[in-house]
Formats: sequence, C-alpha cells, structure tokens
Amino acid sequence: MAREFPLDAADTGPAGRDPSAPLLEARALRVTYSEREVAVSDFSMILRRGEAFGLVGESGSGKSTIALAVMGLLPRQARVSGSILFDGVELIGHRESLERIRWRRVSLLLQDAMNALNPVMSIGEQIAELYVFHEGESWGEASRRAEATLDLVDLPRGAARAFPHELSGGQRQRAAMAMAMALSPDLIIVDEPTSALDVVSADMVARELQSLRQRLHSSFLVISHDISLVARICDRAAVMQRGRVVEEGAVRDLITRPAAPYTRALVEAVPRLPGGEEHG
Ligand SMILES: Nc1ncnc2c1ncn2[C@@H]1O[C@H](COP(=O)(O)OP(=O)(O)OP(=O)(O)O)[C@@H](O)[C@H]1O
Ligand SMILES: [Mg+2]
Repeated sequence: MAREFPLDAADTGPAGRDPSAPLLEARALRVTYSEREVAVSDFSMILRRGEAFGLVGESGSGKSTIALAVMGLLPRQARVSGSILFDGVELIGHRESLERIRWRRVSLLLQDAMNALNPVMSIGEQIAELYVFHEGESWGEASRRAEATLDLVDLPRGAARAFPHELSGGQRQRAAMAMAMALSPDLIIVDEPTSALDVVSADMVARELQSLRQRLHSSFLVISHDISLVARICDRAAVMQRGRVVEEGAVRDLITRPAAPYTRALVEAVPRLPGGEEHG
C-alpha cells in the first residue's frame, strides 16, 4: 500500500536497524576527473536522521561533486575511492544500491529547476507520475496527492496544471522542491537552491526550505557558497576549499567563532546573517 503523504515517518530502512545510526556517512572520499586535478580529497562526514548538514565553500571547491557522488551521477571519467554509506549500505562501486534508493530514499534539488522539470508535462503530471511509477498509485489518486504536495510548498492549486515555462523562477524552484520531496525521501540534497534566483525569490525559497525542514522527517544536505543560507537551514556544516574540508562544526560556531581564516572570509562576505548574529 502506498504511504500516506505528507507527514508519514521517514522510511527507516530494514526493521531493527538502530535509529540513531548515521543515515549518510562518507569516509575518505576522493574524486578526480583527470590526472591533474583532485576535485574532492579525503572528505568525511556523518549525517544523522532528521539532521540538516551544510557544505559551504567557493566555486570549484568540490561541493557538487560530493552531491553527485552520493547520487551516483558522476560522469563516467570520474575516479572515486573511499566510502559512502547510506543507511549502512555502501554506495561506492555499487550502482545497483544507488538505483534502488535514488529519488525514493535520496533526492536532489538542483540550482536551476528547469533542469529537473520536464518542459512538455504539467507540474501536476510530473509529480503524479512519481506516485504512479514508484508507489503504484492510480492516476486519479496520484493527481490528488500531487496537488497536496504542491500545497506543501505553497504553490497555488492552478500550478498543477501549469507547464514549467508558465511559472516564475521562484515558483519553478518550489515545484522542483515538491518533486524532490514527493516520495518522502530520507535524504534531500539541495545544491545551490537559490543561486539562480533574485533576492526576494531566493529568500522565499530559503524560507520554504526552513519550513519543510521543520515539517518533514527528511534529513537535508544543503550545498551553497552562501553561509547565511546554510545557517538558516542547517545544524552543522563543513567548510570546503579546493576539495578539502578546512573546518567543520555547528553552524552557529562557524559564524560566531570561525577558526579558519577561510571560514572567517566567508562569514565576512555576508552583510547580515540570519538572527542578527554579530560577527566580524
Ligand atoms: N564534469 C567534470 N569534468 C571535469 N572536471 C570537473 C567536472 N565537474 C567538476 N569538475 C571540477 O571539479 C572541481 C570541483 O567542482 P564542483 O562542481 O564539485 O565544485 P562546486 O563547489 O560545486 O562549485 P560551484 O559552487 O561553482 O558549483 C572543479 O575544479 C571543477 O572544475
Ligand atoms: Mg556546484
């Protein structure tokens, strides 16, 4: 039977598994695209259920590479070593494990929603399709659930019938967000969810993510060059530079007491941090 949406408990995997065990654990992850350049080096992290973890750093620091490694979407030429355990299952070198969990247990929201959405299908149909294909719903019931999912990201009812090009950039990003959460995945990875948007739409999408974080049981991996966005959503974060973690900790500490000069520079680049924290 299909699971009730939206507020069902996250799928905690095989019965009997320790609920306090990490949901996602990377150990000594290394990714290279060519002989010359290491995109990610010796990356380790632990994300627990219901937690939101941030990856912050400048362009090219390896953030998206980590997201793609988790999703099994790295290009063919990429060389990967180390370990990524999802709910205790090794993903590196096990394409079949990835295919079992992709979208259903882990989903990815990208910077440009246009990439995630099918231009020739209405928003409602695209979401309904997920329920039909992954959960065996009838189209009627799937469409009803799609509307409820769109409600959850505060899109108007009419949005279900709209095609992607008929929505604003901010609305499209919410529609993509609705798709990413439609199957109540245990982990939602958001990669630069607001960078393509103007300040006002970016703020609305950030607020939406904050509120989803409160309402869903999913864990989040939030990727951004903007430490203030990460601070709004995440508990802990890693600061990355040139493929390496330079500092990791509670976001509040990173902002108020950055240890690494690079973290301090990221904090100082943000004019005002959420909650009016003093810094600098
Ligand atoms: N498909 C690819 N082929 C070759 N090199 C790549 C590829 N994708 C990324 N790289 C390189 O890997 C490094 C890390 O890139 P990545 O996209 O992970 O950075 P990022 O932190 O996500 O940057 P941004 O903030 O700009 O999105 C960069 O040096 C980049 O040039
Ligand atoms: Mg990126």
